[in-house]
Formats: sequence, C-alpha cells, structure tokens
Amino acid sequence: MKNLGMNELRSKYLKFFANENGHTLLKSFPLIPIDDDSLLLINAGMAPLKKYFTGEKKMKNNRATSSQKCVRTADIERVGKTERHGTFFEMLGNFSFGDYFKKEAITWAYRFLTKELEISKDDLWVTVFEEDEEAYNIWHDKIGIDADRILKSGKEDNFWELEVGPCGPCSEIFVDRGPSRAIDENDNRPGNDDSDRFMEVWNLVFTQFNKDANGNYTPLAHPNIDTGMGLERIAMVLQNKDNIFEVDVMAAIISEIEKLAGKKYKENKKDDVSIRVIADHTKAMTFLVCDGVVPSNEKRGYVLRRLIRRAYRHGKLLGIDGEFLTAIVDKVIDTYKVEYDELVTNAKRIKDTIKDEEDRFQKTIDQGLDRLEGLIADMEKSNEKVLSGEEAFKLYDTYGFPLDLTKEILEEKNLDIDEKTFNDQMQIQKQTAREARKKDAGWSLDNINTDGIAKTEFIGYDDLSIDAKILNIFEENSEVTSISEGFKGIIISDKTSFYAEGGGEVADTGLISSDSFKAEVIDVQKLKDIYFHYVEVVSGKINVGDIARFSVDRSRRLDIQRNHSATHLLDQALRDILGEGIKQAGSLVDENKLRFDFTHNKALTKEELRSLEDIVNREIAKQEFVKKEIVDYKESEKMGAIGLFEDKYKDKVRVVSMGDYSIELCGGCHVNYTSDILMFKITQESSVSAGVRRIEAITGRKAYDLLVNSENTLKAIASKLNTNVNTISSKLDSLDKEIDNYKKEISRLKSTNASDIIGELKDSVKNVKGINLLVKKFENVSMDELRDYENRIKNSFDNLIIVFASVSDKIVFTVSVDDNLTDMYNAGKIVREIAQITGGNGGGKKNFAQAGGKDISKLDLALEKINEMI
Ligand code: ALA
Repeated sequence: MKNLGMNELRSKYLKFFANENGHTLLKSFPLIPIDDDSLLLINAGMAPLKKYFTGEKKMKNNRATSSQKCVRTADIERVGKTERHGTFFEMLGNFSFGDYFKKEAITWAYRFLTKELEISKDDLWVTVFEEDEEAYNIWHDKIGIDADRILKSGKEDNFWELEVGPCGPCSEIFVDRGPSRAIDENDNRPGNDDSDRFMEVWNLVFTQFNKDANGNYTPLAHPNIDTGMGLERIAMVLQNKDNIFEVDVMAAIISEIEKLAGKKYKENKKDDVSIRVIADHTKAMTFLVCDGVVPSNEKRGYVLRRLIRRAYRHGKLLGIDGEFLTAIVDKVIDTYKVEYDELVTNAKRIKDTIKDEEDRFQKTIDQGLDRLEGLIADMEKSNEKVLSGEEAFKLYDTYGFPLDLTKEILEEKNLDIDEKTFNDQMQIQKQTAREARKKDAGWSLDNINTDGIAKTEFIGYDDLSIDAKILNIFEENSEVTSISEGFKGIIISDKTSFYAEGGGEVADTGLISSDSFKAEVIDVQKLKDIYFHYVEVVSGKINVGDIARFSVDRSRRLDIQRNHSATHLLDQALRDILGEGIKQAGSLVDENKLRFDFTHNKALTKEELRSLEDIVNREIAKQEFVKKEIVDYKESEKMGAIGLFEDKYKDKVRVVSMGDYSIELCGGCHVNYTSDILMFKITQESSVSAGVRRIEAITGRKAYDLLVNSENTLKAIASKLNTNVNTISSKLDSLDKEIDNYKKEISRLKSTNASDIIGELKDSVKNVKGINLLVKKFENVSMDELRDYENRIKNSFDNLIIVFASVSDKIVFTVSVDDNLTDMYNAGKIVREIAQITGGNGGGKKNFAQAGGKDISKLDLALEKINEMI
C-alpha cells in the first residue's frame, strides 16, 4: 500500500481518470447548490451534476471526474465527540452521463486501488445489490474476487439516493485493515458499522432512476455512473492512521490549535473533543465563507453561524482567550491552497467575516453562558428536566445562542429543551415577514404537471410585440380550455416576447390580446423552459388555440434594461475600485432601481461611491455598443467574461459585452448602447449581513426625476431663506453669524439679569437672632437657577439660612443651611416641615435639601413658619 499525502492522493486520482481514461476534469463546484432548492449544501460529488444525469443539461464529453468539496451536517453535534464524524470533506468521483456503465466503473475502481494505490487484492471486499447479477458477475468473473468476499444486500444498504434526484443500486468497496483492529473475533467481514477493521472506501452507484419530491422513481433515459470516495478516508487507510483527525492535513491544523491552546492533542479526552471540533469546523467555515455563505439565522447561513459559534465556545473550553479562529483559518488556507487557490484570493474576506462573527458572539457569550448556567442550576435544584422554549428563544434572540448550541450544552447535563415552544416563538417572529412574501394562492404553480407541455420559444430580447398561439391555460391549478373576463389564470404559448423573472431581473408585464379578448400580464415565471404568463382577463374570453398578440409594456422594459445594463457596469466598476476579490451575492433589477449585493467587509467611503458613479457615467457617455452573443463556454472564458458559475459546463453561453469594459455571462435584457442608460446615480449603500454590502442605484428617467426633485427642494429652501439657489450657502453663513450674535446677546442679558437678582436677594437678607435669614418666593424659576442663586450668595454672609420657593403649577422648595449652623438647624427637617404645610414632602442633607409642595394657597403660611423655627 502506498503512503500518500492527501494532496498527492487527490491529484493521482484526478490524473488517473482525466489523463488516462478520458474524463473531463471538473474543478470542485461551490458548496452552495446552484439552481437546486432541495439541498442546503453540496453533500456529494454528484449533487452539482444532477441535471447532467437526468439529461437536462449536456457536456460535450459524457464522462467527468472531480474532487468535490462537501459539507454534511446531519451529525454535527457528534463531531468532536467521536473520532469518526466530520462536517467538511472532499469526495473523489468519476461520473458517466449515459456513457460507460458497470463494467468500466468496476474495472477502473479496482485498477486504481490495486495498481495506483497498491492496495492488496487480498484486503478487498465488496458488496452488491441483491438483485444486481450483472455487478456480481463483473466482480466475480471479470475481476476475480472470491465469491465469499462479495456480499449481497438489500435496498437499505445497497441503494444510494439523496432527498431528490438521480439514484440507483450501488456496489461498495471495503478495505480490510487487519484483525488487530477488529472489535472481536466475529468482526471478520464488512457489515458492522462500528468496526474499525473493515473500512468502506468507495461507493459505485449505478444511477438508473430519478426520484422526485413525492418519492416517485422514474427510470432515466440512459443509465449513468456516479462514484464517491471520501478523500480523507482513503488517506487515513493509506497513511495507516486510526482516524480522519490523524491524516496529514488534519494533523497540521491540529498542531496549530495545540499551539494556541497550549495543550496537546491526545492528553486529555475532554480537550480532545474541543480540539477536534475546532479543527473540523474551521475547515468547513473557511470553505463555506469562501463560497459566499454569510452567517445568518437561516438555512446555510445558520449552519455557518452554528459552526463558528460552536468552534468559538470550544476555544473557550480549551482556555483560549478572545478571538482566535482566524489564526487557524490561515493554516487551513495554507494546507488547501494547492488545490483551491480561491482561498488565497479571498483570504481577507474569509477572515474578516469569521472574525466579525466571532466578535459578535464574544460580546454576548459570557452573559448567555452565565444565564444558561443559572437556568441549569435552577433546573437541577428543582429536578426539572426540560428547559422552557421561551428561555431557549431568549438565549437565541438576545445572546445569539443557536438552538443547537443550547441543546448541546444542556445535553452535557442530560437535560432537554421544549423545542415546540421555541419554534412557536420563532414562527411568531417570522410571521410578518412571511405574510409580506405570500403569493397569491390562485396562481400557485405547485400542482401543475409540466410533463408533455411544450417549451416556449423566447424571442423577446428584440421583439417586444409578437403573435403567438395559446397552447395551455390553467385556472386554480387545473388545466382548462378557456378562461373568461374577471378571472385569473396562467397561459402558456408556443412563443413569447415576455421575459420571465430570472437572473435577478423581474418579469415583464404587458398585454395579451386579440379581437375577442384582452388580458393583463401581471407576472411571468419560467420552469424547464416553459413560460407561465400570469394573467387577469380584462374582457372577452381566451381559448386554447387562439392566436394572440403578446405585447410587453415597452417603456417599463426599457427602464428595466437600463437598470440591468447599469448593473453590469457597476459590477465591473466595483472590481476596479475594490479589487477582483469581491463576489456577487445577489441582485435585483426592476423598472425603478437596481440593487447589487456583494461580499465586502466595510462600508464604502464617500469617495469610493463617487468613483463608482464617475466610472459608470463615463462608460455611459462613451456610447459603447452592447453586444449579445452566444458562444462556446471555452470561448467566453477566453474573452474574460465574468458571471455566475451555473453556466460553466453548458456548451453554449450568452455573453453580454459593453465595449471592452464589461464582459459578463447573462441571460437578461439589455440596452443597445451604453448611452441608452442615460444616467446612473447611487441612492444608497448599506449592509445586508456580516460581510455583505448592498448598493442601490437608479438610472434614466428615475435619475432625471431625482434631479428634478432635488432641484425643487433646493428652490423651496431658497425661497424660505429669501434668496436664490446659488446663494443658499452664503445666506446660511450669514444666518449662522446672526444666530451667534443673538446667543451672545442672550447670555449677556441673562447674566445682567442674574446680577440684578443677586443684588436684590442680598438686600433681602434679614438678621434674626444672630442668624442671617433669606426667604424668597419666585415664579417659574428652575431648580438649576435656584442653586445658582444660592451659590452666588452663600459666600457673602456668615450663618446664612436660605429658603427658596419657586411656584409654577406646583411648588419647589430649597433650603440651605450654613455648615456652621448644622448642629442646630437641619435643612432636611426644615424643608420637610414647610413642604408638608402645602401638602407636599421632601428631604435631604443637613446643609441642603429640597422638596415639592402642592397647595399654592398655603405657601405664605409655610414660609412664615420659618420665622417660628428660628
Ligand atoms: N453519490 C455517492 C455517494 O455519495 C457516490 O456515496
């Protein structure tokens, strides 16, 4: 057996299938599935290739090979606790799309294992589906595997499938790692999942069916081959390691964690769990962020958030202080860059995103943990086993604890969670958002069976008004032959000029009409190249077979085109200003505006925004021809086209170029010359989520409207200022000066006024039995002013007692007593006594106190009381 490093092993496999056996070498697809809602993340080599298996898409070459990045999260809470589970791995695979079948697949697999990897034939075992005589015979007769080493099994073991998509019977290959790894003497053949002796290394799937969401299996037009061999696993076998955490690449990452934590792997079982969690999760998060996933509370964003937060918590358990993951991310990038150079180009973004998420969690984790620990202590005291859903939701909502993290921490203490209530709370929070998105039920496409419906020819790039034949009509999910005035329905035709929503561009609206009817088109959706026109019949009756005029709302379409073309220019301008590392993270183009989301970690500066506008408007002014052409994918690559990955393995792609400046793969609608955009203006720059920014902008007529509105606002301001637009600024300057002068005058008046008052107050001080007493009533004077007066008089007299009352709708009293007198007189007592006379109350220190009073008619009585008290 050859001892190979993981990187070497990967390239040996790909060479074997690509160079020696004619397969197209595919670069790993991103982890985010393209055009496939059935999957959160790519979890098998075949997952991004489903459409090639079903025949919906075609490659020039019908055989391909890849090492595909995969993430499986079903067992995430077990990762770390065992030595077997992991979330991120690479799957080596060779695929046939109706090309070769079982004989070649089995022969090549056998040859690769025994010749290239030099695994002894005596160590190999295989399984086949019990009804698959053909596979059995190939293994037995052609390859020469002994009959007692070919095990037959039923569907539960030897049939491979995902939730939906291509699937079929399979044959698995096992390596016997020797009796020393056996559980007991009965562990002498594959079949025991806990066994470390027999390791399944390769799965050959004979893909013959397509499974739909309802669980129906339809035979595929041609049989395919899909194989999968976990790279980490086969590396572990070759390197003769006990588990995937010991293969070369993992060992390098683990040694980095050891350094940071100041602890050694394999010295303490509890620490080992944390080290494995961090090693596995850091790998997964690095690749996920690289491929454009950003932390959030939903779907794949949630998976990522959970990985980062779980890893962070385990860092804390290891005693690592503060943010630390990016140091390990560096190591991951370094180990994987041989195969994945995009990790290097995107390193900054990856680290910024992860650090940002760590920082966010760091702020609340301690409080959250304290709270959770408190709750656990309470539960243990009262012998309560289930944490309330409200508490779990609070931990999630306020402290950022993903539900599963809370669950995992509770599980460590054998406690549970009331998930139902948690989910109810979550539902309530989401309700509003969902209601806003709800689609009109009458127009649901859910139950329409597309089998047998003809594809629609789209000729609406250039022709906005055409004649076409109505082929199908649906009303409330059932197919009908006609639809009348006042009703809503869906219309399918042989051709259309209406663009269906897609690629971030909204659908066209307009009219479908003939002599006998008129219908408004509200929306257009596309599924399997069939265009569904959502219509409301305004008059007459539409019949299947009618020829009708399909007229797109032209001025709306022109606005949409302006915004779409401007989006391409903006995309390129962003790369010019911020670097090629940015990735598109979503876009929306409609008749009012364009919205472009992209990965970037900071708000854009005013200068950057201005440069973007300058560049796009410069390209508009150049009046470049906008060329749309269909070319080979390879050709588009040569042209340097940017665009989304989904088109990558199509033979033909549509390229939209604007002069030399912007070249992009795109199926949307565009202007003919850049100058048709008229004008481009950014209206907003904002954050969508950690690491993703959004630019919103307008063009053409909307930009003109903005100009007019701004001008009107300016004119209104100017007229209020009694000036004209050009002199607003100098007018404001002079107003500023005027206000400054007023302020100075006011403060001068105030202080003169105060000096006058102080003079008067001083004159009012009376000597009563050797004590200087000042009693004074004011109207509407604030507490601050009273204190100010008091301070300014205090130092001018010895043995002074001041009693102030200020009357508004109630009374405020203050009493201050000279420090020399506090043995005899207590300000707190005095103020309380007089306040009580007016039905109020108060108190304070011996030398100063304040109180509130109510009954103003008793005020004089109250103030007279002072004389008695002295
Ligand atoms: N798609 C098969 C698997 O993942 C090869 O096991």
